[in-house]
Amino acid sequence: MRPSRRLDRIPPYLFAELERKIAAKREAGVDVISLGIGDPDTPTPGLAIEALSAAVADPGTHRYPSNRGRAELRQAVASFYARRFGVELDPATEIVPALGAKECIFNLNLAFLDPGDAALAADPGYPVYTGGPLLAGAEPVIMPLEPERGFAPNLEAIAEGDRERAKLMYLNYPNNPTGAVVPDGLFEEAIEFARAHDVLVVHDASYTETTFDGYVAPSFLATPGAREVGIEVFSLSKGYNMTGWRTAAVVGNAEAIEVYWRLKTNIDSGMFDAVQLAAAAVLERGDEAAREMSDLYQRRRDLVCDALRAIGVDVTPPRGTIYVWAPVPEGHDSVSYCEQVLEESGVVVSPGSAYGPSGEGFFRISLTISDDRLAEAVERLRSSLGG
Ligand SMILES: Cc1ncc(COP(=O)(O)O)c(C=O)c1O
Repeated sequence: MRPSRRLDRIPPYLFAELERKIAAKREAGVDVISLGIGDPDTPTPGLAIEALSAAVADPGTHRYPSNRGRAELRQAVASFYARRFGVELDPATEIVPALGAKECIFNLNLAFLDPGDAALAADPGYPVYTGGPLLAGAEPVIMPLEPERGFAPNLEAIAEGDRERAKLMYLNYPNNPTGAVVPDGLFEEAIEFARAHDVLVVHDASYTETTFDGYVAPSFLATPGAREVGIEVFSLSKGYNMTGWRTAAVVGNAEAIEVYWRLKTNIDSGMFDAVQLAAAAVLERGDEAAREMSDLYQRRRDLVCDALRAIGVDVTPPRGTIYVWAPVPEGHDSVSYCEQVLEESGVVVSPGSAYGPSGEGFFRISLTISDDRLAEAVERLRSSLGG
């Protein structure tokens, strides 16, 4: 059996060796604590469960859903965007639900890219920004996020040839994996670039509802001109502990939304109606739940950053996301440092290079583990790596 050449273009998984070491430790009886995965550990808000239970009891929700999405959900997204971001959206033409941001981002590549085209991908970044273009038969062109620019890419450094073949640009703030919030002026600069080079900006807003220290994350669409050149993918996964529910929406430029929808009607049959109604309830009444989650992550962030400083790691506390991104100490690369941390403390942290070449020299800690396990992990880091 031979997989497609398309699938063979995806690079091999670089951290198989680290995973093998984790498995060996566990087999040897070590109580390994993983701070590797970003998957919220606390339950989905009760209001989502209640809305889902009521909706699923109605047989009217059991048939094929419409790929356009229920009017209730599209209206709830529009009301949320108006209330939360000051962005007015037309529910009929500027909003389509997606089965998670991952599905949406992947399919945008299929919808917009042909062989010979390119997508500009924030790097380090969510792997679908580079894997998606490859599977679509096109090319990813990485835009290194520069720590000294607040993890903004330098758009002026994009080569002339890449500007011409680029049709998409992926940005994501608050950012996975760096935890950076959008640097001043970047959205404006991206809009100008998109106009000049006929590029569709795709802003991945997966973490806008998880922010700290009073910071409020904006929507890309609140920047003047954004709607003419861009769309935003808003996910309920992280902000409302709904990763398993596969709930997101793509909003913004009506022409781009129409193209995505046209592709989507050929690929899936939409989001379960009962889940759509639960997602609508969360968008209408979930602000407090999101705030409580942010407060929890803020406390965990402080715990982790204090511990990292105590072992000599020079970390900048993030103002958003569920991650802490920190430089590896001198004398190590990302993978060798993560292996040492595992070896000496039984704690798994992710090598920055897993998120793209520009992640080399960093490691990522996820805050989605229970308080007592996180406290234990932190204590182990202090005692085994402290000296
Ligand atoms: C930046 C970013 N975008 C998208 C996703 C996927 O989100 P969803 O669960 O909505 O598919 C993640 C998940 O980790 C992410 O970090």
